[in-house]
Amino acid sequence: MSGRLAVTRLRCDYLVDPLGIQSDPPLLSWELASDRRNQRQTAWRIQVASAPEGLVADAADLWDSGVVSSSETAQIPYGGLRLASRTTAWWRVRSWDGDGEPSDWSEIARWETGLLRAEDWSARWASLPLPPNAPLPGGVNEGLDALTPAPLLRRSFSVDRPVRRARLYATARGVYEPRINGTLVGDRALAPGWTDYSRRQAYQVFDVTATITPGENVVGATLAPGWFAGYVGWGERARHYGTEPQLLVQLEIDHEDGSREIVVTDGSWRGSDGPVRYGDLLMGEYHDARRARTGWDRAGFDDSGWQPVRLSGLNATPLVGDLAEPVRALELLPSIAMTTIDEGTVIHDLGQNLTGWARLEVHGPAGAVVRLRFGERLTDDGRLYVENLRRARATDTYVLAGTGPEVWEPRFTFHGFQYIEISGDPNVIATATVSGRFVGSATTTAGTFVCSSEDVNQLARNIVWGQRDNFLSIPTDCPQRDERLGWLGDAQVFVRTATTNMDVAAFFRKWMVDVLDAQRDDGAFPDVAPRLGTLNASAPAWADCGVIVPWTLWQVYGDTRVIDESWPAMSRYLAYLERRNPDGLWVDDRGNDYGDWLSIDAETSKELIGTAFWAYDASLMGAMARATGRHIEADRYDRLFRWLADAFVAAYVADDGRIIGDTQTAYLLPLHFGLLPEDLATRAVEHLVANIRARGNRLTTGFVSVAYLCPVLTAAGRPDIAFDLLFQDRFPSWLYPIRQGATTIWERWDGWTEADGFQDVGMNSFNHYSLGSVGEWLYRTVAGIDNDPAVPGFARVRIAPIPDHRLDWVRATYHGIRGSIASHWERTAGGLHLAVEIPANSTAEIVIPNSEGATVRESGSEISISETNGVIAVREGDGSTVVTIGSGSYRFTVG
Ligand code: BGC
Repeated sequence: MSGRLAVTRLRCDYLVDPLGIQSDPPLLSWELASDRRNQRQTAWRIQVASAPEGLVADAADLWDSGVVSSSETAQIPYGGLRLASRTTAWWRVRSWDGDGEPSDWSEIARWETGLLRAEDWSARWASLPLPPNAPLPGGVNEGLDALTPAPLLRRSFSVDRPVRRARLYATARGVYEPRINGTLVGDRALAPGWTDYSRRQAYQVFDVTATITPGENVVGATLAPGWFAGYVGWGERARHYGTEPQLLVQLEIDHEDGSREIVVTDGSWRGSDGPVRYGDLLMGEYHDARRARTGWDRAGFDDSGWQPVRLSGLNATPLVGDLAEPVRALELLPSIAMTTIDEGTVIHDLGQNLTGWARLEVHGPAGAVVRLRFGERLTDDGRLYVENLRRARATDTYVLAGTGPEVWEPRFTFHGFQYIEISGDPNVIATATVSGRFVGSATTTAGTFVCSSEDVNQLARNIVWGQRDNFLSIPTDCPQRDERLGWLGDAQVFVRTATTNMDVAAFFRKWMVDVLDAQRDDGAFPDVAPRLGTLNASAPAWADCGVIVPWTLWQVYGDTRVIDESWPAMSRYLAYLERRNPDGLWVDDRGNDYGDWLSIDAETSKELIGTAFWAYDASLMGAMARATGRHIEADRYDRLFRWLADAFVAAYVADDGRIIGDTQTAYLLPLHFGLLPEDLATRAVEHLVANIRARGNRLTTGFVSVAYLCPVLTAAGRPDIAFDLLFQDRFPSWLYPIRQGATTIWERWDGWTEADGFQDVGMNSFNHYSLGSVGEWLYRTVAGIDNDPAVPGFARVRIAPIPDHRLDWVRATYHGIRGSIASHWERTAGGLHLAVEIPANSTAEIVIPNSEGATVRESGSEISISETNGVIAVREGDGSTVVTIGSGSYRFTVG
């Protein structure tokens, strides 16, 4: 690399080479690498062309930015010619380093615009009314009239000229699997994902150039109800957005001769039922392999007996390109143990609570029925525990074709499970093997965390799994029971932790649109998004998500677009709160007022919670206003914050710092939100500490403050107590579920206890991420990787680990918007070692614990400030040595 910068990982709107981009302008980003220390970018140049050859010839017809003096590598608006629909923009970047030396041009990347105007669409919605299912074996569909057969829709067309490029634009009201010429198109599952379909409909774009062949071709899809018409939420309620699934397909084939042929869903399509008797997100899938329509998606199939489709026109609902990574069926987890329950029933243990479905391999006669059920836990007598699924039947059925060894995976459902029960004819079951298929949003890994405590490692893994399992198109609360909703409270509690585990910039950008879509007319943010049926809203700590998520995305990714996009909605929300509560306490209109949801043995005033969150919103609004140049509003929100903080203190805080209710949450919220003057804050910390001590170093917090527990104690100079809580394994604690074998984060501290067994089946998920929001503290404090809040987007990194005596070492990485950061500390007989890595074009403040004032060395030598070794400044802090460095790898030792 010769010390120069290398430009890597070009992304558009956070995605690699995305198709279907609709934002105007899209935002571009890249990362920089260098094997020299203290490397930075001083300028960049972007070229965008309508053909890659244009770039190679140095003729960028769409945009040549020229050399722009800037250290920015992300959130850079495309500034070229306005792009029409279907335009592929090829682009590359060159950066200039601190010496003014240019990098090589990056590899060429691309993005492609979608169908930007309503007139671009000539397709119509196609559906196929099919008679309902008769009662199916095992009574699996009894009483569930929305479990309807999944139609196969197809049409053939012929291609007589060479194809230059072909794109499939498609979506469903429901979920669909597109097929062309006998193969699945793309690698998505459960497309198009979930939005409020009455407000917006996401479509997918597939590059199918290589799939189109000369002569007869076939395009088709299997269609299932998904979130649109299937069961979602509680109470066995289906058809939230419409009664039957519909398909929209527009296949555009550009020929070498410049002509374009468009094949759309229209009256020429025909449909039939097929092997999927039903496929429903909550209830499961029923696949009768005897009914496979072999060859239906290929040329030469006779569909004359198939029915014509029913058509309806496009309405005013906007069709929008995907904003985030798709849902995919990802890794397979093998069964690690099998137990026989009785003749014909076995249970497999995957060793991991996951979201997805089973992959079944089986051999037997035609018509043999295999039933699969899914559970997160076993009962005391070793049976599948399904009571907590409530009315989600989560049952899959496979009817064998009898053609030899058969392999099956469903495609239109998902379950939350660690155990799979298989039952049926004992001779058939004896041949069956299963594994678990993980299904979720394909966000990329951002962080890794391991340390010398296996308990903490398991906790970190459980947090990651809780996230992966629940980030399926939207942040769901849980993947197993009849719910799976995008609860705003859960998401705001966890969003910062989520960013440490995976790159969720695009995922949350998409979901924020759902949140805005679900805002009530009066300005209140909803309880759940996407909206589903009645619109509950205005619950403290749930509604506030509408402000907290954009603020977090800005902090972590330096994203101000999400602030701008959310600003009108956020302002309306703040205005709503003020209108309803003129005295500065959130007394009125607290909606469903969930309070400190699932706290344990502590009741915090709901009015206090509301007022604290309102004040917090005001402070975040002030900061976001300032970051986006809204100075008058910034001042106004700062004043609002002061007024609310004063009102909070006057109403709930005594002179000795005691806060009404005297619960951990009552102290944590105002401390974290900065509502208390210094003297009261000091006293409040003492009360908080006393509370934790009095409870034997145990927590009582529910959802709304659990994320703040360890950070507040750390900021108050009591990280020792935070570690006491971290290592606590008596109930209630983070490690208690791990003692019970948990592989995900439980919804409740007492989901299962030795004393009482399972909690009430009415609400007892073993896969809810919120209580895992301690994860951010593992990264930010235990490993010590943080962002300087004054400079969002990790341009200025802060590495300040707190090496508690209960840990010998911690090794963590975090791949942020500017590249990879690492922190690895280890205590040895020779002293403390801290190895860090800072990506090119970032600087970092490294806070090295050094209470004895020992000598700090870097890579074996005494630290000296110099441009080439990357050390920018050194100073002695309070019990620490603080070194400011540029990019690169550094190894510090103390002692
Ligand atoms: C969900 C939660 C949610 C809550 C609202 C529950 O049913 O699972 O996680 O935030 O309701 O109180």
